[in-house]
Amino acid sequence: MFTVVATVLQTPTPDRLECLERVRIEVGDDGHVHAMSTGAGPADVDLGDDTVLLPGLVDTHIHAPQWPQLGTGLDLPLEQWLHEYTFPLERRATEPAFAQSVWDDMVAVLLAHGTTTAVYFATVDVETTTMLARTCAAAGQRAFVGRVAMDHLETTPPWYRDFDAIAGVEASARSIDQIVALDSALVAPIITPRFTPACTDALLGGLGELAEATQVRVQTHCSESDWQHHHARDRFGRSDTAVLDSFGLLRANTVLAHGDHLDATDLGSLAAARAGVAHCPLSNAYFANAVFPARRALSAGVAVGLGSDIAGGSSPGLLSQCAHAVTASRYLEDGVDATVAPSARGVAGSRLSITTAFHMATLGGARLLGTDTGLLAPGRPFDAVAVAVDRSGSALRQWGDLDDHHRVFEKVVRLAGADDITDVWVAGRRVAGTRSVA
Ligand code: GUN
Ligand code: FE
Repeated sequence: MFTVVATVLQTPTPDRLECLERVRIEVGDDGHVHAMSTGAGPADVDLGDDTVLLPGLVDTHIHAPQWPQLGTGLDLPLEQWLHEYTFPLERRATEPAFAQSVWDDMVAVLLAHGTTTAVYFATVDVETTTMLARTCAAAGQRAFVGRVAMDHLETTPPWYRDFDAIAGVEASARSIDQIVALDSALVAPIITPRFTPACTDALLGGLGELAEATQVRVQTHCSESDWQHHHARDRFGRSDTAVLDSFGLLRANTVLAHGDHLDATDLGSLAAARAGVAHCPLSNAYFANAVFPARRALSAGVAVGLGSDIAGGSSPGLLSQCAHAVTASRYLEDGVDATVAPSARGVAGSRLSITTAFHMATLGGARLLGTDTGLLAPGRPFDAVAVAVDRSGSALRQWGDLDDHHRVFEKVVRLAGADDITDVWVAGRRVAGTRSVA
């Protein structure tokens, strides 16, 4: 049991910023918040007036083996990018020694950016996928780890795919068993067909049955780009969402990455199934051919989390994705082509606030996954990120009485980098941060 005194900034709803000034948080040995009160008194950790405490960030879409190409390779369209850069790199990450070095580096950096929950696509290989789960468990990161299933002879290379659908389902089942056998309270498996273009009907159907039999969550990409969207129409005669549904993959807590081209019917199907979208705004600028209509999805009752889509997105932290989500929504609302009349240029009612974006990065992601993280409250896990707002040399700075809590919150979301993050806790364990502790 330990106590933290801190000013908490968090978003209990998509439109409400809550500021709890100097609250005293009691964290139990079970890693959960036992009580929060305004009472004074000594604390094990007092974050003072120049540091704020946020709930831990939930990154709902990361490609772990793409970590070494973060920041590069974004000059090609999605299909070419996969074949020329990404599949060769993911294949290298099936070599255990290389994989371990990537996993160690990536998990440490993501924790330092405040990513307390991560949803990973690992590799097609069972062993290196289990190694990633083990790395997260040891480092103290909450994680859903998926072995990537892909078997289509025309859309995947012979040196990076499942032998056939039967082998693919068998490997996914074995991966689930190995991750469950780690017996970590933080790490769980997730069934991961890469996307419909890379999978045969038999593999998609087999993984749907595996999800039903095991009740393990599902993740995939859905209607990301014009190309993916039309692939589903051409091959199956219906939308990508309807295809996933027909194979039993649209389930409660299914994470659909991107979803930029989902129509109103698709959004209704997601809401009914209690599936949701991992919105990856920066990646979308490169691959999606459109801005995801996040407001429309939220209005349709769809759970929306945020994703970095490393390395389709070139930035590691989720706070920067919040800022990108806001920026992208403004492009969508106003439109981007000045030769089009203002009244016809954009999509009215699309803009997101910083508050809504941060809600997606925390409670929205938790709701999508069906976890109890994303908010600091009694009974929930103590997954938290402390951010200094007075670090010398940082652009993030609280200017005395000029900045109320709302402005500090906006500044934290738009300006904080890993150097400003002093502490990161997951389930009550301090796992990262710049503060030196005795
Ligand atoms: N669709 C299938 N695979 C991928 C991937 O690795 N990244 C992105 N952004 N889209 C995909
Ligand atoms: Fe992706």
